[in-house]
Amino acid sequence: MALPALLRTARAVLSLGPAEQLRPEKAFARGGLAVSAWDLSKNFGKLKAVDGIELQIREGEFFGLLGPNGSGKTTTIHMLTTLARPTHGGATVAGCDVRAQPVSVRRQIGLVFQESALDRNLTVEENLRFAGALYKMPAGLARARIDELLQLFNLDAKRRTPAGELSGGMRRAVDVARGVLHRPRVLFLDEPTLGLDPVNRRALWQFIARLRREERVTVLVTTHYLEEAAACDQVAFLNAGRIIGRGAPEHLIKQFGAYVLEVESPDPDGITAHFSARLGVGLKTDASVSFRIAEEHFSIAGLEAELDSRVRAMHLRRPDLNDVYLWLIHGGFGGRER
Ligand SMILES: Nc1ncnc2c1ncn2[C@@H]1O[C@H](COP(=O)(O)OP(=O)(O)OP(=O)(O)O)[C@@H](O)[C@H]1O
Ligand SMILES: [Mg+2]
Repeated sequence: MALPALLRTARAVLSLGPAEQLRPEKAFARGGLAVSAWDLSKNFGKLKAVDGIELQIREGEFFGLLGPNGSGKTTTIHMLTTLARPTHGGATVAGCDVRAQPVSVRRQIGLVFQESALDRNLTVEENLRFAGALYKMPAGLARARIDELLQLFNLDAKRRTPAGELSGGMRRAVDVARGVLHRPRVLFLDEPTLGLDPVNRRALWQFIARLRREERVTVLVTTHYLEEAAACDQVAFLNAGRIIGRGAPEHLIKQFGAYVLEVESPDPDGITAHFSARLGVGLKTDASVSFRIAEEHFSIAGLEAELDSRVRAMHLRRPDLNDVYLWLIHGGFGGRER
């Protein structure tokens, strides 16, 4: 067989793209970036689902991609994991280019889909063994890793139970075990705790924390539970396909202000008009208006004197990541960016 034909055959066996080269580690070690994306964009027809985002996630970092329904989180993950081709822009994951080296990217990542990817008719163990075969793990290695993960998730007793007979929380845990079976360097978790009760959510986060500690895996997570995202090293807020804010959660909360003043009222518009000259723009939610208060020594005593029938209650509390989120999405807080 002529050399070009041999090469073509070898590439077909390895299912590599024609230009793909497998030399990821050096680039990864050099850059120290687990994920780097530039002008990353995805259009569906006229819809700009992801619109020119920049991302830099350091190796070992715990990164949260946050945003409302339809803001482009899953589409971003699909591009970074080579399941969707960017319309323009690009990214590297674990030092490999998502366009030019998709197989190398896939070898080094784990992905937990927003929807469970388990075969409901196969047992827990069969699902995991099947995943091990897909990752081309040697059988002995896969068996040992499956045992380890089932122990870790307290799922050993369910090993021979069909996935379809597990509770939602157990199924999610198996999904995560499946995603980390091959010890990926970068793990993508798309709403891993959706639908889990607080105990299972906590167990899952404890597992992720352990995985980060013991296997130094970089984690990109999307979640709607912002109290969970507060544990991230860095977060980015997506809205309509664009990043509208980013930073360390504690830094964003500090930047937000000292307090949130919530005023409950049957007339939120009247309240906004009354206070906005002094307190700035208010954020209306149902029957209340919130104001960002920058001063650490702010007191509501002065405002209480003005209370009339338009005010039912007024209270001051410390902000959290939910406030940052709501103000970024609805209220226009801080340095908006692309
Ligand atoms: N295959 C597709 N074809 C057409 N439009 C799509 C496709 N996938 C996603 N979209 C659209 O792209 C936008 C972003 O969707 P995406 O699933 O990325 O959002 P998301 O932030 O993950 O939302 P959620 O929080 O609900 O999971 C939405 O308007 C969605 O309808
Ligand atoms: Mg999604």
